[in-house]
Amino acid sequence: MMIRFPGVYAPQCDTRLLSDAVRAEKLDASSQVLDLCSGSGALSVCAAKAGAGTVFAVDISRRAAVCTWMNGRLRGHRIHARHGDLLTPFHGRRFDLVVSNPPYVPSVDDRAPRTGRARSWDGGNDGRLLLDRICATAPGVLQKEGTILLIQSALSGIDRTVELFADNELEASVVSRTSIPFGPVLLSRRRYLESIGVIDPDQVTEEVVVIRARR
Ligand SMILES: C[S@@+](CC[C@H](N)C(=O)[O-])C[C@H]1O[C@@H](n2cnc3c(N)ncnc32)[C@H](O)[C@@H]1O
Repeated sequence: MMIRFPGVYAPQCDTRLLSDAVRAEKLDASSQVLDLCSGSGALSVCAAKAGAGTVFAVDISRRAAVCTWMNGRLRGHRIHARHGDLLTPFHGRRFDLVVSNPPYVPSVDDRAPRTGRARSWDGGNDGRLLLDRICATAPGVLQKEGTILLIQSALSGIDRTVELFADNELEASVVSRTSIPFGPVLLSRRRYLESIGVIDPDQVTEEVVVIRARR
Protein backbone atom coordinates (compact mmCIF):
# COMPACT_ATOMS: atom_id res chain seq x y z
CA MET A 1 0.00 0.00 0.00
CA MET A 2 1.46 3.35 -1.07
CA ILE A 3 0.72 6.65 0.64
CA ARG A 4 -0.74 9.06 -1.87
CA PHE A 5 -1.67 12.73 -1.62
CA PRO A 6 -4.72 14.00 -3.54
CA GLY A 7 -3.91 14.41 -7.23
CA VAL A 8 -0.91 12.07 -7.20
CA TYR A 9 -1.16 9.26 -9.78
CA ALA A 10 -2.33 5.95 -8.29
CA PRO A 11 -0.10 3.06 -9.42
CA GLN A 12 -1.92 1.22 -12.19
CA CYS A 13 -1.45 -1.55 -14.79
CA ASP A 14 1.32 0.42 -16.50
CA THR A 15 3.15 0.88 -13.19
CA ARG A 16 2.88 -2.86 -12.51
CA LEU A 17 4.11 -3.90 -15.97
CA LEU A 18 7.10 -1.57 -15.64
CA SER A 19 7.79 -2.79 -12.09
CA ASP A 20 8.09 -6.34 -13.44
CA ALA A 21 10.66 -5.09 -15.96
CA VAL A 22 12.62 -3.30 -13.20
CA ARG A 23 12.71 -6.52 -11.17
CA ALA A 24 14.11 -8.35 -14.21
CA GLU A 25 17.19 -6.05 -14.26
CA LYS A 26 20.36 -6.95 -12.38
CA LEU A 27 20.58 -4.34 -9.65
CA ASP A 28 23.06 -4.26 -6.79
CA ALA A 29 24.54 -1.94 -4.20
CA SER A 30 26.55 -0.10 -6.86
CA SER A 31 23.50 0.56 -9.09
CA GLN A 32 22.37 4.15 -9.53
CA VAL A 33 18.75 4.34 -10.65
CA LEU A 34 16.67 7.32 -11.76
CA ASP A 35 12.85 7.21 -11.67
CA LEU A 36 11.71 9.93 -14.09
CA CYS A 37 8.12 11.09 -13.43
CA SER A 38 7.94 9.22 -10.13
CA GLY A 39 4.36 9.94 -8.99
CA SER A 40 3.80 8.07 -5.71
CA GLY A 41 7.28 6.54 -5.97
CA ALA A 42 6.13 2.98 -6.72
CA LEU A 43 8.93 2.41 -9.23
CA SER A 44 11.56 4.03 -7.00
CA VAL A 45 10.58 1.74 -4.15
CA CYS A 46 10.54 -1.24 -6.52
CA ALA A 47 14.11 -0.45 -7.65
CA ALA A 48 15.30 -0.03 -4.05
CA LYS A 49 13.66 -3.31 -3.04
CA ALA A 50 15.25 -5.02 -6.05
CA GLY A 51 18.66 -4.10 -4.64
CA ALA A 52 19.62 -0.76 -6.23
CA GLY A 53 22.10 1.02 -3.96
CA THR A 54 21.04 4.57 -4.86
CA VAL A 55 17.69 5.68 -6.18
CA PHE A 56 16.95 9.18 -7.44
CA ALA A 57 13.48 10.32 -8.47
CA VAL A 58 11.92 13.41 -9.97
CA ASP A 59 8.41 14.70 -10.50
CA ILE A 60 7.04 18.04 -11.71
CA SER A 61 4.47 17.79 -8.92
CA ARG A 62 5.82 18.84 -5.54
CA ARG A 63 3.30 16.58 -3.81
CA ALA A 64 4.40 13.60 -5.87
CA ALA A 65 8.06 14.23 -5.02
CA VAL A 66 7.20 14.33 -1.30
CA CYS A 67 5.09 11.15 -1.67
CA THR A 68 8.01 9.39 -3.35
CA TRP A 69 10.32 10.31 -0.50
CA MET A 70 7.76 9.26 2.14
CA ASN A 71 6.95 5.93 0.52
CA GLY A 72 10.65 5.16 0.45
CA ARG A 73 11.08 6.13 4.11
CA LEU A 74 8.12 3.99 5.18
CA ARG A 75 9.85 0.97 3.67
CA GLY A 76 13.27 1.81 5.05
CA HIS A 77 14.73 3.14 1.79
CA ARG A 78 16.22 6.56 1.21
CA ILE A 79 14.92 7.80 -2.15
CA HIS A 80 16.60 11.01 -3.33
CA ALA A 81 13.37 12.59 -4.54
CA ARG A 82 13.47 15.95 -6.32
CA HIS A 83 10.84 18.34 -7.54
CA GLY A 84 11.54 19.44 -11.11
CA ASP A 85 11.19 19.02 -14.85
CA LEU A 86 12.65 15.72 -16.11
CA LEU A 87 16.44 15.77 -15.86
CA THR A 88 16.88 19.36 -14.73
CA PRO A 89 17.69 18.54 -11.05
CA PHE A 90 20.43 16.03 -12.00
CA HIS A 91 23.05 18.08 -13.79
CA GLY A 92 26.21 16.02 -14.35
CA ARG A 93 24.88 12.74 -12.89
CA ARG A 94 24.98 9.39 -14.69
CA PHE A 95 22.70 6.40 -14.06
CA ASP A 96 22.84 2.64 -14.60
CA LEU A 97 19.08 2.46 -15.03
CA VAL A 98 16.58 5.14 -16.00
CA VAL A 99 12.99 4.03 -15.55
CA SER A 100 10.02 6.11 -16.62
CA ASN A 101 6.25 5.99 -16.79
CA PRO A 102 5.62 9.46 -18.26
CA PRO A 103 2.37 11.05 -19.43
CA TYR A 104 1.70 9.47 -22.86
CA VAL A 105 -2.01 9.83 -23.69
CA PRO A 106 -2.82 11.88 -26.83
CA SER A 107 -4.73 15.00 -25.79
CA VAL A 108 -6.69 17.70 -27.61
CA ASP A 109 -4.52 20.40 -26.08
CA ASP A 110 -0.96 20.29 -27.41
CA ARG A 111 0.54 21.88 -24.30
CA ALA A 112 1.48 20.00 -21.15
CA PRO A 113 -0.97 20.91 -18.36
CA ARG A 114 0.68 23.12 -15.76
CA THR A 115 -1.45 21.82 -12.88
CA GLY A 116 -4.12 19.23 -12.10
CA ARG A 117 -4.50 15.49 -12.44
CA ALA A 118 -4.22 15.51 -16.24
CA ARG A 119 -0.54 16.40 -15.81
CA SER A 120 -0.09 12.68 -15.07
CA TRP A 121 -1.38 11.50 -18.43
CA ASP A 122 -1.79 14.25 -21.05
CA GLY A 123 0.98 14.00 -23.62
CA GLY A 124 -0.03 16.60 -26.23
CA ASN A 125 -1.72 16.01 -29.61
CA ASP A 126 0.21 12.82 -30.41
CA GLY A 127 0.96 11.79 -26.81
CA ARG A 128 4.67 12.37 -27.36
CA LEU A 129 5.44 15.67 -25.60
CA LEU A 130 7.31 13.93 -22.78
CA LEU A 131 8.26 10.77 -24.70
CA ASP A 132 10.21 12.77 -27.32
CA ARG A 133 12.02 14.75 -24.64
CA ILE A 134 12.93 11.57 -22.76
CA CYS A 135 14.16 9.85 -25.95
CA ALA A 136 16.31 12.90 -26.71
CA THR A 137 17.80 13.47 -23.27
CA ALA A 138 17.82 10.24 -21.21
CA PRO A 139 20.50 8.52 -23.37
CA GLY A 140 22.86 11.33 -22.38
CA VAL A 141 22.65 10.53 -18.65
CA LEU A 142 23.32 6.80 -18.96
CA GLN A 143 26.48 5.14 -17.71
CA LYS A 144 28.39 3.27 -20.42
CA GLU A 145 26.41 0.05 -19.93
CA GLY A 146 23.24 1.81 -18.82
CA THR A 147 19.67 0.87 -19.60
CA ILE A 148 16.42 2.77 -20.09
CA LEU A 149 13.05 1.19 -19.33
CA LEU A 150 10.17 3.27 -20.65
CA ILE A 151 6.47 2.47 -20.78
CA GLN A 152 4.02 3.94 -23.25
CA SER A 153 0.83 3.28 -25.15
CA ALA A 154 0.63 1.93 -28.70
CA LEU A 155 -1.54 5.03 -29.30
CA SER A 156 1.53 7.25 -29.01
CA GLY A 157 3.92 5.69 -31.52
CA ILE A 158 6.05 2.77 -30.37
CA ASP A 159 8.16 2.75 -33.56
CA ARG A 160 8.93 6.44 -33.11
CA THR A 161 10.40 5.76 -29.65
CA VAL A 162 12.54 2.91 -30.98
CA GLU A 163 13.76 5.12 -33.87
CA LEU A 164 14.59 8.05 -31.60
CA PHE A 165 16.60 5.79 -29.29
CA ALA A 166 18.41 4.39 -32.36
CA ASP A 167 19.23 7.99 -33.41
CA ASN A 168 20.94 8.26 -30.02
CA GLU A 169 22.87 5.03 -30.60
CA LEU A 170 20.76 2.87 -28.31
CA GLU A 171 19.32 -0.49 -29.29
CA ALA A 172 15.70 -0.53 -28.25
CA SER A 173 12.97 -3.14 -28.36
CA VAL A 174 9.65 -3.97 -26.78
CA VAL A 175 10.23 -6.38 -23.89
CA SER A 176 6.71 -6.71 -22.53
CA ARG A 177 3.20 -5.68 -23.40
CA THR A 178 -0.34 -5.91 -22.14
CA SER A 179 -3.81 -4.91 -23.29
CA ILE A 180 -6.00 -2.94 -20.94
CA PRO A 181 -9.63 -1.89 -21.29
CA PHE A 182 -10.13 1.83 -21.99
CA GLY A 183 -10.42 3.69 -18.70
CA PRO A 184 -12.32 6.94 -18.10
CA VAL A 185 -9.62 9.12 -19.69
CA LEU A 186 -9.57 7.29 -23.02
CA LEU A 187 -13.35 6.86 -23.03
CA SER A 188 -13.79 10.60 -22.56
CA ARG A 189 -11.64 11.37 -25.62
CA ARG A 190 -12.39 8.49 -27.93
CA ARG A 191 -13.78 10.80 -30.60
CA TYR A 192 -10.49 12.72 -30.68
CA LEU A 193 -8.49 9.47 -30.79
CA GLU A 194 -10.59 8.26 -33.72
CA SER A 195 -10.15 11.58 -35.49
CA ILE A 196 -6.35 11.28 -35.39
CA GLY A 197 -6.55 7.66 -36.55
CA VAL A 198 -5.02 5.92 -33.53
CA ILE A 199 -8.08 3.85 -32.60
CA ASP A 200 -10.80 2.07 -34.57
CA PRO A 201 -14.45 2.95 -33.95
CA ASP A 202 -15.09 -0.38 -32.20
CA GLN A 203 -11.83 -0.48 -30.25
CA VAL A 204 -12.19 -0.91 -26.48
CA THR A 205 -8.66 -1.80 -25.38
CA GLU A 206 -5.30 -0.08 -25.41
CA GLU A 207 -1.96 -1.83 -25.64
CA VAL A 208 0.82 -0.59 -23.37
CA VAL A 209 4.40 -1.70 -23.87
CA VAL A 210 7.71 -1.56 -22.04
CA ILE A 211 10.61 -0.49 -24.24
CA ARG A 212 14.11 -1.41 -23.11
CA ALA A 213 16.98 0.58 -24.60
CA ARG A 214 20.74 -0.10 -24.22
CA ARG A 215 23.99 0.96 -25.86
C1 LIG B 1 1.67 8.28 -15.38
S1 LIG B 1 2.25 9.10 -13.92
C2 LIG B 1 3.41 7.86 -13.37
C3 LIG B 1 3.64 7.85 -11.89
C4 LIG B 1 4.47 6.65 -11.36
N1 LIG B 1 5.80 6.62 -11.95
C5 LIG B 1 3.76 5.34 -11.61
O1 LIG B 1 4.20 4.60 -12.53
O2 LIG B 1 2.80 5.03 -10.91
C6 LIG B 1 3.26 10.37 -14.63
C7 LIG B 1 3.93 11.33 -13.66
O3 LIG B 1 4.71 12.26 -14.44
C8 LIG B 1 4.75 13.50 -13.77
N2 LIG B 1 5.23 14.52 -14.72
C9 LIG B 1 4.53 15.12 -15.72
N3 LIG B 1 5.32 15.98 -16.41
C10 LIG B 1 6.56 15.91 -15.84
C11 LIG B 1 7.81 16.56 -16.09
N4 LIG B 1 7.94 17.46 -17.07
N5 LIG B 1 8.87 16.26 -15.31
C12 LIG B 1 8.74 15.36 -14.28
N6 LIG B 1 7.57 14.72 -13.99
C13 LIG B 1 6.51 14.98 -14.76
C14 LIG B 1 3.33 13.66 -13.27
O4 LIG B 1 3.25 14.61 -12.22
C15 LIG B 1 3.01 12.22 -12.82
O5 LIG B 1 3.32 12.04 -11.46
